Amino acid sequence: MSSAEWNKVFAAVLFAGLIAMLSGFIAGKLVAPKFPAETAYQVELPDAAPAAAAPAEPQLEPVGPLLASADVAAGQRGSRACAACHTFDKGGPNRVGPNLFAIVNAPHAHAAGFAYSDVLKRMSNEPWEYEDLNAFLANPRAYAPGTKMNFAGIRSVQERANVIAWMRTLADTPAPLP
Ligand code: HEC
Repeated sequence: MSSAEWNKVFAAVLFAGLIAMLSGFIAGKLVAPKFPAETAYQVELPDAAPAAAAPAEPQLEPVGPLLASADVAAGQRGSRACAACHTFDKGGPNRVGPNLFAIVNAPHAHAAGFAYSDVLKRMSNEPWEYEDLNAFLANPRAYAPGTKMNFAGIRSVQERANVIAWMRTLADTPAPLP
């Protein structure tokens, strides 16, 4: 090829490049793509999912408001469910469970000489306040996972209030009502 012919080839290539650039520029002006500020397809983040899916924790009803008017005699009758394992009289022996005289406001794992579970022993610097007894009697294993108290629990808040109100009377000086 002569140099004149090479020049034609170069000119052709240059021209083609120019056309390509120009059409790209014009196309950009015509279409003017806009990019949305937010991603159109939202991906659920895994750490946000469990909080939304978890069922609401059932709230335990407090016994506090019921204690003053609780039925102590009904509570004594209800305590038959406990008597298989517990004595309630002053100086009474430990059985399957510890003696429970003056249990309100006594420390957890209060009875000397009783082999408590580790979970109750770990709470021995905390008193059995009314709402602790309420939670324990509603569901012993939920309140103290690993407890030795093999008892399903008392479902009714009124019955728990009755039993606790009765236990409160079993003390030299009954604890004040809340
Ligand atoms: C099947 C036997 C059994 C029955 C029934 C039972 N308990 Fe217990 N209870 C135990 C045992 C065993 C423990 C010791 C738990 C531990 O160490 O984890 C205990 C512990 C307790 C404690 C804690 C005492 C402390 O010193 O910290 C309370 C309060 C209590 N029981 C109340 C009751 C009441 C009230 C009832 C009846 C509504 C009842 N229990 C029914 C076996 C029983």
